[in-house]
Parts: sequence; C-alpha cells; structure tokens
Amino acid sequence: MNFKNQVVIITGASAGIGKATAEEFATRGASLILADRNEAAGKTLTGKLVEQGADAHFHPVDVSNLASVKTLFDFCMKKYNRLDHLINNAGIANELGFFEAITDEDWHKVIAVNQTGVFYGMRAALKIMREQGSGSIVNTASAAGIGAAPRMGAYAASKHAVVGMTKTAAHEYGKFNVRINAVCPSIIDTEMGTGGLAGDPKLFKMMEMAVPMKRFGKASEVAKTICWLCSDEASYLNGVALSVDGGLKA
Ligand SMILES: NC(=O)c1ccc[n+]([C@@H]2O[C@H](COP(=O)([O-])OP(=O)(O)OC[C@H]3O[C@@H](n4cnc5c(N)ncnc54)[C@H](O)[C@@H]3O)[C@@H](O)[C@H]2O)c1
Repeated sequence: MNFKNQVVIITGASAGIGKATAEEFATRGASLILADRNEAAGKTLTGKLVEQGADAHFHPVDVSNLASVKTLFDFCMKKYNRLDHLINNAGIANELGFFEAITDEDWHKVIAVNQTGVFYGMRAALKIMREQGSGSIVNTASAAGIGAAPRMGAYAASKHAVVGMTKTAAHEYGKFNVRINAVCPSIIDTEMGTGGLAGDPKLFKMMEMAVPMKRFGKASEVAKTICWLCSDEASYLNGVALSVDGGLKA
C-alpha cells in the first residue's frame, strides 16, 4: 500500500482514530491534509509528521460549518489541485440517556457534526473526484451505525445516516471510478471510546468481555483498515460498511 503522490484529507485528525490514520498514511508516503477543530493538537502532530519526512499540512475545520468545510477543500485544491482520498472521520458522542431524555440541543449538535458534517465533506469531495475520474472516500461510521446503541439514540441515528449516505453515494459514483466505503468500529482505545468508560471499571470490563476477541480495538487497527480500503488492494470494494469490531456485530 503506497500512497506516494496521492492527496488525502483526514478530518478529526488531531486525536484518536484520525490521528492514527494520519500516521499510517504518512508512513505510506501520502500527501496529507490533517483537519480538525483542535488546532493546537493538529499542528503538533503535523509538525511531528513533517519532521519524520512526511508531506503534511494542517488546516483548521469545523465539519458542521459549511463555510469552514469550503475553506478546507479550497486549500486542498489550491495546494495540490487534486484529492485522491477523503477520510470523513470527525465525530462526537451524545450525552448518554434514553430517547425521552435526549435534548433538542444535544440532538442537533450530534447530527450537525456526525451526519451533516460527513455530508458536507462527501458532497465537496465527490464533485472533485467525479471530475478527475478517480478517488475514494472512507466514512467513519460505527457499530452504532449498523445496530442498536442503547442510551446513544442521537449518535446511532447519525451513524446509520452515515452508512446510508455511504451506500447511496457508492451506487451513484461507482461509474465515475470513485469508491465510497465506511468503517464501523466498536469501542476503540481513544478519548471517545475507552475514555468514556474510564470512570466505570465494572462497565469497562463488562463491555470488553462482550467482544468475542475479549479486548477493545486499537486506533491503529482502524487506521490500517481505512488505509487498506483506500488502496488498490481494495479496488473492487464499494458501498461496504465494514465492521472493525473483534466480531461484536457478527
Ligand atoms: N472510539 C470509539 O470507540 C469509536 C467507535 C466507533 C466509531 N467511532 C467514530 O470514530 C471517529 C473518531 O473517533 P475517536 O474515537 O477518534 O474520537 P476522539 O474524540 O478521540 O477524536 C475525535 C477528533 O475529532 C475532532 N472533532 C470533533 N468534532 C469536530 C468538528 N466539528 N470539526 C472538526 N473536528 C472535530 C476532535 O477535535 C478530535 O480531534 C468518530 O466519528 C467516532 O464517532 C469511534
């Protein structure tokens, strides 16, 4: 898997799965644009990758803000005049609670980032990729995008939408040599994943033991899957919502 001369945008690249994905693409020679609303962490990571010899740039983005997303894609086209892969990865969790406890504010916040944010990115990238006649998109959905996620109603709604957008775009854009896939991780060792369980060791253990492989996933394991989906090794994969979950959803 060599991505030399291939331009990759990764959203949510400052931490967790996005960070691991940036590191993975960097070792494989990609030209990277790391995008995140956390500028400090994103710039530090980008600096580290550049020091290690990568072609990497940081651009601030709030994926839920259309104007902000536009500046990201304008930056990419001005800098490279092409886009080979978009990793729509930025996401947030909701306040835990049953449906009747979901507040309007939390609902709209989660949908704005996880669903509308992915839509903005897909729409911008698909136009570029259709015109250049090649490209791939990987959306970070979730196990909550293919099954129930109790106490995470807004999150599950947003991630099911990501899977729906992935499959629909795959049908529409396959003929233009553009592939659109999603990864569906279960709990992963990031701030959002295992970090969210840190205060409750009993629940942590119970959820870990529910995974057939008896452990949570590593961010690097999702990152490698994302890279593979973008690579020529996966040239006939389109419209797939691929579980990266140690067998949880099997
Ligand atoms: N960690 C898990 O257990 C898990 C499981 C399934 C799916 N996911 C999904 O994986 C993706 C990455 O999650 P993670 O675990 O790495 O989370 P994380 O919280 O560790 O990192 C998320 C990154 O996204 C950025 N971000 C959040 N909102 C943003 C916005 N509006 N605009 C730009 N950047 C924004 C944050 O600043 C952060 O750098 C998310 O879409 C998440 O829903 C995570």
